[in-house]
Amino acid sequence: LFPSGSARAQGNYPTRTITMVVPFAAGGPTDTVARLVAEAMGRDLGQTVVVENVGGAGGTLGAARTAQARPDGYNILMHHIGMGTTPTLYRRLPYDPVNGFAPIGLVTEVPMTIITRKDIPAANMAELTALVKKEGEKLNYAHAGIGAASHLCGLLFRQAVGAPMTTVPYRGTAPAMTDLVAGTVDVLCDQTTNTTEQIRAGAVKVFAVTTPERLKAMPDVPTAAEGGLSGMEVTIWHGLYAPKGTDAAIVNRLSAALQVALRDPRVVERFADLGTTPVTQDRATPTAHETFWKADIAKWKPVIEAAGQYAD
Ligand code: MLT
Repeated sequence: LFPSGSARAQGNYPTRTITMVVPFAAGGPTDTVARLVAEAMGRDLGQTVVVENVGGAGGTLGAARTAQARPDGYNILMHHIGMGTTPTLYRRLPYDPVNGFAPIGLVTEVPMTIITRKDIPAANMAELTALVKKEGEKLNYAHAGIGAASHLCGLLFRQAVGAPMTTVPYRGTAPAMTDLVAGTVDVLCDQTTNTTEQIRAGAVKVFAVTTPERLKAMPDVPTAAEGGLSGMEVTIWHGLYAPKGTDAAIVNRLSAALQVALRDPRVVERFADLGTTPVTQDRATPTAHETFWKADIAKWKPVIEAAGQYAD
């Protein structure tokens, strides 16, 4: 029924705890998605899937950890759009950002929000744009490192406004959000999975969403285009990866567990609370994700080259 080797590998798999690396800080948007999915996958696999946060260097430290791990099915990576931008942003990495992984499947697509500390002296995007033009580098833009979604959004924001702010890197947007709420940084563009609750609580001020249409969850918040910013359409995706060389039968078993997780009502409901949805089941497969991911690398290459901001 199965090619030899694969049958043995899949027959017993998994026999112990699986580690899912999150390449950003605990409590942030990638971590939130990963913990929900890991728990549901673990129920299907009959083994615990433990999330390990390996933050730093815009997600490349965690990605390196997985690329260099044993390809035995017990080391997987929950990453995001950074898998699409890193191959262009970084000229030198200790792992192969394109060929070092076996994709398992796409997980979610998440809108972003442009937010500020709550007392910033601007009431709408036109006023925020004017403030950024006037204050420029006196304003601090928080992000999660080169390769992070928040960094990419910052590049697009800078291009749209035509003025730079001082950039302040963190290991993830969880600590960036803590400082934004405390008012020690000024601006952040981050995923709804990390911003919805702070926006609802009034702990930060929201100016725009980065989707072509307004979001059902925040109908009063204009799109970036409505706010006068062009070229700011960006949706963050999360994807699951194993190290290259992981047995195809194991990768397929992980993909099947991912699909089960993405239709788990607990996952669906919590995702909805946070302004996102699981992708359709046909996209949570190795082949569909391989195609999507490679297209995303090609999509962002010219954008990053035009911005001319590399990690080295
Ligand atoms: C995180 O989990 O902290 C983020 O996904 C960071 C980012 O990419 O902006």
